[in-house]
Amino acid sequence: MRVLGIETSCDETSAAVVEGAGEDVALRSLVILSQDAHRIFGGVVPELASRAHLTAIVPVVERALADAGTGAASLDAVAFTYAPGLVGALLVGVTFGKALAWANRIPAVGVHHMEGHLFATSLEHPDARPPFTALLVSGGHTMLLDVEDWGRYRMLGATRDDAAGEAFDKVAKLLGLPYPGGPHVERLASAHGREPNRIRFTRPMLRSDQRPGDPDYYDVSFSGLKTAVLNAVRTSDDLERDRTGIARGFQDALIDTLVAKTVRAMDAYGRERVVLGGGVACNASLVAAMRDRLAPRGAVVYAPSPRLATDNAAMIARAGVFHAERGEWSPLELDAFASAPLPGLLDS
Ligand code: KG4
Ligand code: ZN
Repeated sequence: MRVLGIETSCDETSAAVVEGAGEDVALRSLVILSQDAHRIFGGVVPELASRAHLTAIVPVVERALADAGTGAASLDAVAFTYAPGLVGALLVGVTFGKALAWANRIPAVGVHHMEGHLFATSLEHPDARPPFTALLVSGGHTMLLDVEDWGRYRMLGATRDDAAGEAFDKVAKLLGLPYPGGPHVERLASAHGREPNRIRFTRPMLRSDQRPGDPDYYDVSFSGLKTAVLNAVRTSDDLERDRTGIARGFQDALIDTLVAKTVRAMDAYGRERVVLGGGVACNASLVAAMRDRLAPRGAVVYAPSPRLATDNAAMIARAGVFHAERGEWSPLELDAFASAPLPGLLDS
């Protein structure tokens, strides 16, 4: 089956075509138009995002179809992100996707953005298939999941406050770096080099006496770490000298916590694969730390390439194939939602 995906939940207007069935789904085209305006304001301005999506949606979809050598008439379904995200931004993709599906008399398939992130890696790594432990780390969400099968998920942990990417973005701001901050903080942290770091932050929500069943066993929290960074910035007598150490100290604390919690989830369900997703999965130190920790156990870590880690429509199209194959089509009344529970959640 050939599926067009559309993603407009935040500040990327993206369209993609995938083709295949079951686990064998290939990417035929992917167009991502990132909106630059938000850099000036240091964050996404919702109204500007919606307007930019409106301007871009038609040419972006046309380009994706042309790159795949296909037309709307030969699609089998149109998949689009319906939640979570900025409602005005989502509405553009939802409305366009439903209209295109209706006009071509093909199924419309609403996809939850985070389920898209879950599927992204499988487009590049055929072995990134269930069962596995998933760590989704984006600008808006942090989720630790046990993926028993596609469509059967256990939500083990989440952030209590800031998402991992949001923490990177806020720390970037404190260090005078541009938005989005993740890649800049990573670069600054790498610039610290190999010498020992004088600056060390407490690993948030990570204690050895935590036990399965404790409410904080899997959850994470990054707002305290962000405050610790703020204090380090304020009390530094030479910020120019300390910037790399602060970035490195922050990144190390965040990564240690994420890796430790992921290992707990793997152990609890006896999984041998970890799949990463979301923009923070672009962070090479996170991927390396996860691999270092898991290699001795024979476990494999799958991470998407940066283009598929950050927001893109390929992952939406891929998740769309899964739902379309199961006949899970969306009614044309489907609306856009700022938040919505991940579909397929199991009770425990
Ligand atoms: O998944 P994504 O593109 O959008 C959301 O769904 O939110 O993730 C964007 C987030 C931003 O917070 C950005 O700073 C972060 O991913 N990010 C990174 C890196 N590249 C992007 N964080 C840490 N290290 C990176 N290299
Ligand atoms: Zn995302």
